[in-house]
Amino acid sequence: MVDDIQKNLIKKELIFGPDNYKPLPVVLSKAKGVWAWDVNDKKYLDMMSGYSAVSHGHAHPKLLKVFHEQSSKLSLTSRAFYTDTLGPYLETITKLSNFDMALPMNSGAEAVETSIKASRRWAYRTKNVESNKAEIIVADGNFHGRTTTIISFSSDSNSKDDFGPHTPGFVSVEYGSSEAIEKAINKNTAAVLIEPIQGEGGIIVPPENYLPKVREICTEHNVLMIMDEIQSGLGRTGKMFAFQHSNIQPDGLILGKALGGGFMPVSCFLSSKEVMHWMNPGSHGSTFGGNPLAAAIAKRSLELLEEENLIENSRVMGDFFKESLINMNSPIIKEVRGKGLWLGVEIDPKLISGKELSEIFLKEGILCKETHETTIRFAPPLVIKKEEIEWALKIIKKVFIKISS
Ligand SMILES: Cc1ncc(COP(=O)(O)O)c(C=O)c1O
Repeated sequence: MVDDIQKNLIKKELIFGPDNYKPLPVVLSKAKGVWAWDVNDKKYLDMMSGYSAVSHGHAHPKLLKVFHEQSSKLSLTSRAFYTDTLGPYLETITKLSNFDMALPMNSGAEAVETSIKASRRWAYRTKNVESNKAEIIVADGNFHGRTTTIISFSSDSNSKDDFGPHTPGFVSVEYGSSEAIEKAINKNTAAVLIEPIQGEGGIIVPPENYLPKVREICTEHNVLMIMDEIQSGLGRTGKMFAFQHSNIQPDGLILGKALGGGFMPVSCFLSSKEVMHWMNPGSHGSTFGGNPLAAAIAKRSLELLEEENLIENSRVMGDFFKESLINMNSPIIKEVRGKGLWLGVEIDPKLISGKELSEIFLKEGILCKETHETTIRFAPPLVIKKEEIEWALKIIKKVFIKISS
């Protein structure tokens, strides 16, 4: 039940801010690890993890320490100067991902924009594509962010309607079809930009040979293969990067969300020297991108994924969670998709809507939200323990039995 304290705080958000999110009716005020509490101290298991940005769990003590120490030493300088944290962070992230260089930004969408700009420059200056003719191939059902350029190639009408004129230079083809990508390639194609698993699209896992085929096609046609792993990356799918399930290496990689350790927006675009060297002084940047605090937090966040076995935990706990959901044999569940601790449960809309189900889970102490009306996404912090998943499974089972009986 939403009491008066929560009602008033919700009302304030709605009076003083536009309703562009439709949050669930709960007002959170603190969180630690996998748990969050509302203003009345009711406890919830966080199965949202800030849209996969809180992979390390809330207020991870080792990140909190870095946050306190770095912010009391040096937090913001702008890129007008060198700092003692940016170089070590860039070295860590490039070595770990096997790319030559990383260009630091803040939000995911900014890093996607960076990848678009870098791909276009490479196309004009290395591949000699005719001026202003460069094309980027994307996939239907994509989600890459909310800027005016990015929404220009979204398939979701509410994301783009009446926000035009839209940016040209994008071709959208069926997700999961490498043939469709090959068909769309022409002499002006700079890059293919895709998510290895579509997150906001409903945790859509493409056919197994999709990424290897796209890799082959991109190499053959001298087109950059860019992976948006803002949501799928950094252990979420049980590998450091989701593309590693396919044993490939893309030409560019976009990271965000969990890179900030749940503390702050940190994102980047990674690629080769051949692509990056065109990003010369003045061509691109951000006041906050690569700031000392962000760099220190991101470096430690990356180290902790390995030091604390969070990737392995994502794989093992994800498999356990997925199997347990499938074994429920509930008529509510039509399909369970996903890899690692990133699951999409496709529900039967004839029995209940995703929104109603999220609200029931909320009352029962589980924070999760539907994506695309009929998919419930479960993406807990990667630090989650088996007994915590078992606790959630008990509730999920109880709720499903109640609805279907
Ligand atoms: C795959 C992907 N790309 C880009 C973004 C945009 O990131 P941000 O909201 O930080 O701009 C998201 C956010 O959900 C995402 O899932």
